[in-house]
Amino acid sequence: MANESNIEKKKVVFSALKPTGDLTIGNYIGALKNMVEMSKEYDCYYAVADLHSLTVDNVPADLRKRTYDFMAFFIAIGLDPEKSTLFVQSHVPAHSELAWTLNCYTQYGEAKRMTQFKDKSQKAPENVNVGLFAYPTLMAADILLYQADLVPIGKDQKQHLELARTIAERFNNKYSPTFVVPDGMFPKTGAKIYSLLDPTAKMGKTDDNANGTVFLLDDPDTVMRKFKRAVTDSDTVVKFSADKPGISNLLTIYSTFGGVSIAEAEKQFEGVDYATFKTRVGEAVVEYFRPIRKTYSELIADKGYLESIMKAGAEKASRTAYKTIAKVYRKIGLVPPVR
Ligand code: TYM
Repeated sequence: MANESNIEKKKVVFSALKPTGDLTIGNYIGALKNMVEMSKEYDCYYAVADLHSLTVDNVPADLRKRTYDFMAFFIAIGLDPEKSTLFVQSHVPAHSELAWTLNCYTQYGEAKRMTQFKDKSQKAPENVNVGLFAYPTLMAADILLYQADLVPIGKDQKQHLELARTIAERFNNKYSPTFVVPDGMFPKTGAKIYSLLDPTAKMGKTDDNANGTVFLLDDPDTVMRKFKRAVTDSDTVVKFSADKPGISNLLTIYSTFGGVSIAEAEKQFEGVDYATFKTRVGEAVVEYFRPIRKTYSELIADKGYLESIMKAGAEKASRTAYKTIAKVYRKIGLVPPVR
């Protein structure tokens, strides 16, 4: 008879996106695409990281709108709320609770070394808040609460993931095995998508020049206009190479949305001029997102449905998360509340 130990446990996956700006094709290629792939096989927890958004200045109404948008996009890109746990980070208070605890197991020097902290402090010197500094410990809490084995992310989150591993290992060594030490999952190509206007800078949700960023909410005309204006080089050959960052970035984007390898894409565009190439990349993006945008529009009109998903997701996530909290509190000597 099968007992529990020989029934193979599905791997657990956690990832999140913060609603500081609208979702971009960089988010899609770097994280969302893998999140969908992994949801077919694994036990996945995916969150809208609204608490992380508070580390930068926000317009409350925009934050609220984007929280619904992200949830609608989760479903529109193919995540099934019956199979994956989709929720809003602030709906599960365990995230804040474990984050505080992990702050006490993270060194000042470790947090200070994070490049995102350094970049963001430089970009907004008027708002270097303590939350921005503690950002990676909240992220570690997100992951460790669910005992996640795998974390699909883009390259810019690698350093944060490594810190989460360090914290987990430190805690496990000091007490006894408590947390699963997670591994990052990066896409083979496109772990970092660059701005269309500056192919040496990351394509970001909050870039100063929105023309360099393609948003999932952009209508087809806007997408085409952005690709037509994309920066290339003075050469004429469509080839993936370190000295052709603009073209390489466009090839990566085409490869994802056109469903071909980079080598195949290079072949398709042999002898094709840059203007035609850029148009074809734009068209591939427009076509790929056409059905997704349609589903998104239907979902976003039905707030009640989205809220029912948020509610069910938060309940399921809480059950898992509070098991970890109870274990952690017991090990570090906190007296459980008397009920
Ligand atoms: P965020 O919201 O900035 O980005 C969401 C995901 O998209 C990836 N990404 C990119 N990938 C490739 N090219 C790009 N230009 C690009 N821009 C963004 C990011 O690497 C990320 O995977 N701190 C996280 C959110 C978070 C999280 C977590 C992630 C909170 N808790 C726990 C994983 C696990 C963030 O700000 O991602």
